[in-house]
Amino acid sequence: MIKISPSILSADFARLGEEIQAIEKGGADYVHVDVMDGHFVPNITIGPLVVEAARRVTRLPLDVHLMIENPDLYIPEFARAGADIITVHQEAVPHLHRTVQLIRSLGKKAGVSINPATPVSTLEVILDEVDLVLIMSVNPGFGGQSFIPACLGKITALRREIERRGLNVELEVDGGVKTENIGEIAAAGADVFVAGSAVFGTADYGATIGRLRENASS
Ligand code: DX5
Ligand code: ZN
Repeated sequence: MIKISPSILSADFARLGEEIQAIEKGGADYVHVDVMDGHFVPNITIGPLVVEAARRVTRLPLDVHLMIENPDLYIPEFARAGADIITVHQEAVPHLHRTVQLIRSLGKKAGVSINPATPVSTLEVILDEVDLVLIMSVNPGFGGQSFIPACLGKITALRREIERRGLNVELEVDGGVKTENIGEIAAAGADVFVAGSAVFGTADYGATIGRLRENASS
C-alpha cells in the first residue's frame, strides 16, 4: 500500500494549522515533520512545541524526522508531544540499538534514516528491530532539492532485503519526490513517499496527493 507523507517544511508556517488540515482533507496518509537542529544539518526548523500544536489539529499519524544530534535527549519530549513515528539518523546516533529501543519503549514506531552517501549495509543489524527505514534522496537540510538518482539502487537493495527477511518494515523515501519521478521510485520498492514542495507548491493539495498516489501505483 502506497502512503503519501507531505512535509510541512514547505507549508505556510503562519497558517500551519490550516495547512495540515488541508493535506488531511486532501488524502494524506501521514504528516511529515522535519526537525533540524543547526548541527546535524545546516538549518534550524521546528521542535516539540510545534509537534504538540500539530497534534491538536489532525488525526493523521505524525511522521517525525529528527535531523538532530543527541536525539535520545529529546525523544521523550517528541513522544509526549504526540509523535507517532520517530525517525533518527544512523549517522547521528552512536548506539542505534539503544535509541530504537528507547523509541519503542515509549510506545512509538521507530524509524532509522540514512543520508545519500551512507550505504544500506549500515542497516543490516538494526533492520529486524525497526518499523520504518527512511532513505534520504537529497542531502538533508532543505526542501526543494533534486532527487539524487544513485539512491534508487539503495531502495531496490533494501526492498530485496526486507522481502528476504519477511519483515513488516515501511520503506520511506524523502527528498525531491515529484509526480514525474514517483513512479520510478515506487517501482524500486518504496512504499511511503515524503513530498514537500511537490505538494505545498501547488494550489490544490488534494489533486496533487491524488496524482502522486496514482503515479506511484501505475
Ligand atoms: C529535507 C527534508 C525533507 C524535505 C523534502 O531535509 O528531510 O523532508 O522537506 O522536501 P522536498 O519534497 O521539497 O524535497
Ligand atoms: Zn524529512
